[in-house]
Amino acid sequence: MKDMCVNSELLADARETLRRPQKALSPKWFYDRRGSELFEEITELPEYYPTRTEAAILKENAARLAGLVPRGGALVELGSGASVKTRTLLGAGEHFGAYVPIDISEDFLLSTADDLRARYPGLAIRPVVGDFTGSVNLPDDVITLSKIGFFPGSTIGNLDPLEAVALLARARAWPAVEGFILGADLVKPAPDLIAAYDDAAGVTAAFNLNVLNRLNDEAQANFDLSEFRHEARWCEDPARIEMHLVSERAQTVRLGEDVITFREGESIHTESCRKYTAETLEALAAAAGWRVEEMLTDDAARFAVAVLRPDAG
Ligand code: AVJ
Repeated sequence: MKDMCVNSELLADARETLRRPQKALSPKWFYDRRGSELFEEITELPEYYPTRTEAAILKENAARLAGLVPRGGALVELGSGASVKTRTLLGAGEHFGAYVPIDISEDFLLSTADDLRARYPGLAIRPVVGDFTGSVNLPDDVITLSKIGFFPGSTIGNLDPLEAVALLARARAWPAVEGFILGADLVKPAPDLIAAYDDAAGVTAAFNLNVLNRLNDEAQANFDLSEFRHEARWCEDPARIEMHLVSERAQTVRLGEDVITFREGESIHTESCRKYTAETLEALAAAAGWRVEEMLTDDAARFAVAVLRPDAG
């Protein structure tokens, strides 16, 4: 029975965001199994430079970044997923006291933790199931350890500006926090950015449209995917790529007990991906009580890994 497998959280959230004047869906709903697979494919596209660029920066600076964690201290990662990028730091972090991966997906988190325990037998792995957009409780035995935060992937750019500041401010308030390693994508010419979010193979389009499939499967909706098209838009102030799903014609769609009406050309805003400059990154850090100690970038300055330190003031 379809009713027995309704995702009530998804349905309630979508009902609210699809009623707004600018219809929207939270990017967190992209990541069902299919969406996660499509995102993996995105990271391998020739046009999508962020993942490989950040990985190269982490690799090149692994010793320096791991060295930010004091002996016996903890590396605390927000939204750790499979902790793929982190392995570069863990490999250079024999002196770490603990690694604390925080992720909302419990199954994935715990199986990754087992995998890491096998790979780094001397390291205490202390996974925390939690949503980094809210406050998270650190494990008791980690609280007093000196700690360095880690938030790669430019995921910070998905948050609206106030949420991004709030997240960094919560990390700033961790006991004994000594620094924060933040991955942030940089402003660059619009055509390069558009290409990264509207690739020739259509993988990003499939990723974006998949959220409608998810509403059909889990939230009693009847979207016709052929009646919507993917669009990536470059917007200024704050500098960002926006992803939209544009209705090809006037139409109505069912969602649970609601009927959603679309005008021709009306869109659902599904994601914002902020792009930073040294100045906007510094302003973001400063608003949350941090200063940028160092900005590590690639040769073409496509992506930055920023080292933040608690601001004395
Ligand atoms: C996972 C949020 C970093 O914003 O580049 C990729 C998500 N969306 N292509 C990004 C994404 C479309 C990605 N982040």
